Amino acid sequence: MNTNKTILSICNRCRDGKEDDLKSRGGQRFLDNFLNKIKNNKILNLKVRSVACMSQCKRSCVISLTSENNFTYVFGDIIPDNQEFTSELFNLIRTYSNSPNGFLRRGERPQLFRSNILGRLPSIVSNSDLVTYLYKS
Ligand code: FES
Repeated sequence: MNTNKTILSICNRCRDGKEDDLKSRGGQRFLDNFLNKIKNNKILNLKVRSVACMSQCKRSCVISLTSENNFTYVFGDIIPDNQEFTSELFNLIRTYSNSPNGFLRRGERPQLFRSNILGRLPSIVSNSDLVTYLYKS
């Protein structure tokens, strides 16, 4: 089990085309939905932060999960007012926090987070079989 604190970043600047009608951006609404839900469903060892743009604006709404010495994941195409995304994000965080090096297999991820990975980045120091060091100076 990964005992490091998991950090969830949610882009609060992502647009979903409903900003004019709903008077807030999709990313901010998703962040608000998540924070409301976590009040009654605490997740241990979790830090949540907002980020003003994660440079994946065309795939909004965007989040990332990271923790020390583990893989970092970026996910997009989140529909902010769909409560299933909020619920499944809780499951995704638990799966991520329980994996040995933060690696998330496709079949272990909640359905809504299976085909919307925008990036999987190794930690600075990684012992994963997926990473091969080729040059050092
Ligand atoms: S505004 Fe959300 S990724 Fe750019």
